[in-house]
Amino acid sequence: VFSPIRWTDGALELLDQTRLPAEEVWLRCETPEQVADAIKRLAVRGAPAIGVAAAYGLALAMRAGRSEPPEERLDQVCELLGDTRPTAVNLHRTLERARRSVAERPGLDHAAVAELLLDLARELHREEDDVDRAIAAYGAALLDSGERVLTHCNTGPLATGGYGTAGGVIQAAWAAGKLREVWVTETRPLLQGSRLTAWELERAGIPFRLVTDASVGTLLARGLVDRVVVGADRIAANGDVANKIGTYPTAVLARRHGVPFYVAAPRSTIDPGTPSGEDVPIEERDPAEVRTVLGVPVAPAAAPASNWAFDVTPHELVSGIVTEVGVLAPPYDEAIARALER
Ligand code: MRU
Repeated sequence: VFSPIRWTDGALELLDQTRLPAEEVWLRCETPEQVADAIKRLAVRGAPAIGVAAAYGLALAMRAGRSEPPEERLDQVCELLGDTRPTAVNLHRTLERARRSVAERPGLDHAAVAELLLDLARELHREEDDVDRAIAAYGAALLDSGERVLTHCNTGPLATGGYGTAGGVIQAAWAAGKLREVWVTETRPLLQGSRLTAWELERAGIPFRLVTDASVGTLLARGLVDRVVVGADRIAANGDVANKIGTYPTAVLARRHGVPFYVAAPRSTIDPGTPSGEDVPIEERDPAEVRTVLGVPVAPAAAPASNWAFDVTPHELVSGIVTEVGVLAPPYDEAIARALER
């Protein structure tokens, strides 16, 4: 299976998503600093994929022999990687998991910790694919034959390192002969929809049409969408969903037009420590990304701009949350608590 993340000859290689779809260039990361930089620049992105890349980044950090004790080095690198992107919770959970597994085996030297962390990274990478396939099967089962699905941002293999979340649902629905076509929003400012989702769907031979983000109201008002399926970067304990900016207006419009709005995400994206959407830290990126399109100026150079990378969709607007243990339905606080116990 295709994955934008691979471990080759002792280094982490990432398919540089800033260069797609024009070029397929693999970035080679030999230090955790290079991994942190790749995450910040969105060379690797998508909540689950960020977690997997960070796990390999930890393994890289421990390989370069250091004078400080392994636990101290691990703390430093967890801070470096944890500071890259605040919203996607998978990253922070991965770092916690790595810390725990090292703490459970005190006294290991750097090389042994490096080995342990590399095994953990590989395990997480594999798990992501297994979990995605379960999500895809539950999600595809929701669809009726001949549906037209609208999705936002990118949630396929590029975003998870596995089969994809909402993107996996789309692939599985296509394989099951249930999907007529996919509406893909371009996803300003960084165009993950037009650059990445369109690239994935084209490779998979799945029919799609690109639209500007502002077209969602027209598509829904004209009855051209049967279901919305999106991913998530963090789901709060009450079911509120943080996802790529533009998700919330899509959910509002879907409700207005009576179209079901589903969120597909692994349980690792659900954070019981975040009570509601108000508590999710929302990443704000460089305003220059709004003043430009892929580096080309589209506004006066000094135009004031704001660039929230994510928004929050209140749980009342969510028809269901598709996870690897089934489709969660309201009341979400209870459904989520049960799903996390399993
Ligand atoms: O800023 P990005 O490109 O990392 O944002 C990605 C998204 O918003 C995805 O929808 C989300 O991570 C779900 S990934 C399966």
